[in-house]
Amino acid sequence: MLKTDILIIGSGIAGLTSAVKLARRFPDQTITILTKANTDETNTKYAQGGIAVVNDLEHDSFQKHIEDTLVAGDGLCNPHIVEIVVKEGPERVNEIIEWGTKFDKDVEGGFMRGKEGGHSEFRILHHKDITGVEMERALIEEAKKHPNIQIHNHWFVVDIITQHHLGYLVTRSTPDITCYGVYALNLTNNNIEKILSKVTLMSTGGAGQVYRTTTNPRIATGDGIAMVYRAKGRIENMEFIQFHPTALYEAGVSPSFLITEAVRGDGGILRNKNGEAFMPNYDPRADLAPRDVVARAIDSEMKKAGTEHVYLDCRHMDPEKFKNHFPNIYAKCASIGIDALQQLIPVAPAAHYCCGGIKTDDQGRSSIINLYACGECSSTGLHGANRLASNSLLEALVFAHRCTENMAQHLGDLSFNDAVPDWNASGTTAPKEMILITQSLKELQLVMSDYVGIVRNDIRLDRAMSRLDLLHLETEDLYKTTVLSPQLCELRNLITIGYLVVKGARFRKESRGLHFNTDYPNKADLVQQIVQ
Ligand code: FAD
Ligand code: SIN
Repeated sequence: MLKTDILIIGSGIAGLTSAVKLARRFPDQTITILTKANTDETNTKYAQGGIAVVNDLEHDSFQKHIEDTLVAGDGLCNPHIVEIVVKEGPERVNEIIEWGTKFDKDVEGGFMRGKEGGHSEFRILHHKDITGVEMERALIEEAKKHPNIQIHNHWFVVDIITQHHLGYLVTRSTPDITCYGVYALNLTNNNIEKILSKVTLMSTGGAGQVYRTTTNPRIATGDGIAMVYRAKGRIENMEFIQFHPTALYEAGVSPSFLITEAVRGDGGILRNKNGEAFMPNYDPRADLAPRDVVARAIDSEMKKAGTEHVYLDCRHMDPEKFKNHFPNIYAKCASIGIDALQQLIPVAPAAHYCCGGIKTDDQGRSSIINLYACGECSSTGLHGANRLASNSLLEALVFAHRCTENMAQHLGDLSFNDAVPDWNASGTTAPKEMILITQSLKELQLVMSDYVGIVRNDIRLDRAMSRLDLLHLETEDLYKTTVLSPQLCELRNLITIGYLVVKGARFRKESRGLHFNTDYPNKADLVQQIVQ
């Protein structure tokens, strides 16, 4: 058994930033970060384009960033949250610069700013095309400076502990569900440990692995969202899964390598099989329309031509500038025999970002007492029906600050709940066939990709739900009788994610942002939706 004042699940931008902030403020409190893989194996590490922030008020304005975010979010952003994130963003970005994060600068020492779909200005700070590697590096180094932060790698958190584990009936309408810590599988000895905390932060990232083709690394299995759903916490907006328009197309390869939208920001043009620059046919913003628009246009071009991809054309771009801004992309293309400056790059959409998640208030508090959520697993109200490019890293920084400020107000009044029992593994046996788990995962990913992709309809969604029901029953059976493994837990979590996406998609009788249903191609009246 482990006891920690503050427990943080996840070591991406959300978890590490929160840990550092808390450690600086409370050097006497114990802060434990649990992460299921190596510390740096996170979605954060793979971020390319950068972080959107208005820190040049001569050429940009908060109002423009707010407008761009609201337009992308297609009517479902919470304007209060959008304003908070945009206006508090610059201070938060300055903090991580002070902690050692390096963003590219020009010869005069000013920041170089990129542009991506949906942005009206060049405002994206970046580190070449490996912004995430740089941010994760700087945050890990900063976290290691604080002796009261303990990072435990290869600890898989299975469930959060609530009154349910003390034998009480907990339902979705129980008003005071409280988090006392977690049960976690220590992957070095395969024991399930009880970890008690006064306050817990869920920062477990996204869920791209629920689809067959995704830009997300293997860790992105929606564990935190599924845990909170099981604990009867509030989850919202799961139907809004963002597909990035331009993942490098390599048949059978997953995760897919991303070709950052910043390439289109610097002039890259999408072309179909016949070489036509098709985006102006779909939207006046052409290649720099928001992601939902571009991904749907590509999907339509691929369906019309019967191809698995379209092309990104960079042949007209300045070679030096390209190699300087996108060295990693240039090298990756070269490694598979494509000269990005001489040849077309095959690209296709891939599941990229989960806009919904654990519902929080403007302090990052979930509906469960003493449980906060931050980063991609949370739904703060910033993204609405479609996230504006490069707003995710910014949201994580702003909400890490807000969560920790709120925790600071309450920490002194909180105590451990020593009545929590140990994990009960009786009646389980070692798994006989791992293949049952891997096959079910493949089935799940196929169902989600074939029936719940970029363009949906009611029949497909109904089919998906009945396939998921079966997978759910089979997996729950395994879960009850088998010794836990991370693979089984991830499968179970991903089935929950699939269920939540389909449930949200079936409920939404309209097309909005990332959710497009051909049976309801128009937007419904928002006032009516709120009344329902
Ligand atoms: P993550 O960084 O994903 O960290 C999650 C952590 O939780 C990991 O440490 C993981 O091991 C841990 N974890 C998960 N489940 C468990 C469990 N059960 N037990 C223990 N630990 C667990 N956004 C931008 O704003 N700009 C960009 O340029 C950008 N580019 C991107 C490029 C790619 C290829 C991808 C995939 C995403 C990109 N995004 C970008 C999105 C952004 O990177 C992520 O949304 C953000 O980094 C998420 O940070 P996080 O801290 O919430 O989660
Ligand atoms: C990209 O670089 O295109 C990804 C940016 C993001 O997901 O916000």
